[in-house]
Amino acid sequence: MPLAGARVVLGVSGGIAAYKAVELLRRLVDAGCEVTPVLTGTATRFVGAATFSALGSHPAETELFGGAAPIPHTRLGRWADLVVVAPATARLIGEYAAGIAADLLGATLLATRAPVVICPAMHAEMWEHPAVQDAVALLRSRGVVVVEPDSGRLAGGDEGPGRLAAPERILDAAAGALAAARAARGLGGELAGLEVLVTAGGTREPIDPVRFIANRSSGRQGHALAEVAAERGARVVLVTASELPAPRVAEVVRVETASELAAEVLGRSGSADVVVMAAAVADFRPARPSAEKLAKADGLPELVLEPTEDVLAELGRRRLAGEAPEGQVIVGFAAETRDVLERARRKLEAKGADLLVVNDVTRPGAGFGHETNAVTLLYRGGETVEVPTAPKPTIAGVVLDAVARLRRNRPPARDEGAAP
Ligand code: CTP
Repeated sequence: MPLAGARVVLGVSGGIAAYKAVELLRRLVDAGCEVTPVLTGTATRFVGAATFSALGSHPAETELFGGAAPIPHTRLGRWADLVVVAPATARLIGEYAAGIAADLLGATLLATRAPVVICPAMHAEMWEHPAVQDAVALLRSRGVVVVEPDSGRLAGGDEGPGRLAAPERILDAAAGALAAARAARGLGGELAGLEVLVTAGGTREPIDPVRFIANRSSGRQGHALAEVAAERGARVVLVTASELPAPRVAEVVRVETASELAAEVLGRSGSADVVVMAAAVADFRPARPSAEKLAKADGLPELVLEPTEDVLAELGRRRLAGEAPEGQVIVGFAAETRDVLERARRKLEAKGADLLVVNDVTRPGAGFGHETNAVTLLYRGGETVEVPTAPKPTIAGVVLDAVARLRRNRPPARDEGAAP
C-alpha cells in the first residue's frame, strides 16, 4: 500500500463537507499514514478541532500564530510527504492559486514542496464560475492534483456538481500523487510492490530483571535500510531491537531478545520477498535468567549460557526446503575483527544467504554506533564489491541496489560501489 508510512497534512477548509473529512482522516490513518489535520478558522465552525485531534496521529493545528512552536507552516510544509485538502472551498482554491497565505493552511500550501491533492466541494454555481475554474486550471498547470467533485444532492436541496468526492477516489489520488512524486525523485522503482522484512539493533538477553547481555549495535544501519527500502516503494516490516525512533515504514515491531526476534521474523518470512538480517542477534543467552535481582550478598553468580536460534541459517534452510516465496532474496550481515573475508565466506556458505554485508568493525568510521559505515558486499558466487566509507543511508541504498539486481538474477555490477 503506497500510502503506508506517509506523512500527510490533511487540510480542511470551511464548507459543510468538512464533516466528511473526519471519515477521510480515519481512512488515511487506517491506510498507515501519519496525519496532522490542519483546519481553517471557518472549518472549525462546521466541525470542532477536537474531533480531528482525537482521530489524527497528531493534534489538529489551526493557528499561524500563538501555537507552542514558531513558524508552524514551514515546519508542517517540510514535514509532509503529501498535502491533501478536503474539502477545498472556492476561497481556499482562489487564495492558493493567487499565492495568498491568509491562514495556517494557506501558508502551509505555499511552504511545502510535497505533492498536493485538492478536493473541491461547493455549490454547483460556484464550482462552475470562471474564477474558480480558472484557478483550478492554474493549480493543475502547477502540478496540483485536483479530485473533481461528484454530482448529486448539495446542501440546501440543490442538485449538481459540487459534492466532495468519495473517500476511495481521494485515497486513490493521494496514493498516485505520492507514487508520482517518489518516481520523480528517482525512487519507487525496483522495490515497488515487494514485501521487505528488515531486522535491526542488538538483542538483549536477560541475566536477571535488571541486567542483560547486549552488544554494541545501535540499529542505525538497519533502520536506514528499512527507511530507504520504503522510499523505494517496498512494503517494509522492521523488526527492531534498537531504541531509535521508528522510521517511516509500514510496520515496526519492537523486540528485545533473540528468541522474540526469531519468533517475529520466522513468523513473517513466509510472505517476504526480501529479508535483510541487519540485527546483531545474540549467539548465546543465560540459560536460566534469575526471576529475582541477583544481589552481591548471594555471592558470585554462575552464568550458564545456551545457544540462541540462528535466524539467518533457519531462513536459508526454509528457502532450500521450498518453504519461502519464489525468488526470495536473503541478505545477512557479518561484523568481523579478523580474517574478515575468510570468515565471512564461511558464514555465507553455512547460512545459505545470497549476499553478506561484511563489516570490518576495526576500521575507522565503520560499524557500531557510527553515522557512517564501510562494507564489503560478498556474493554467493564469491564476488566481492568494496563500498567505501559513506553515511549509513547511502550504504543502505547500495545494499538495496544489490538486492534489486539479485531479484533480477543479475550478477553484481562494478558500478554498485567503488572499484574492487
Ligand atoms: N544471526 C542470526 N541469528 C543469530 C545470530 C546471527 O540470524 N542467532 C544473523 C545476523 O543477523 C547476521 C548474521 O547472522 O545477519 C551474522 O551473524 P554473526 O553473529 O556474525 O554470525 P555467527 O554465525 O554467529 O558467527 P560467529 O559468531 O562465528 O562470528
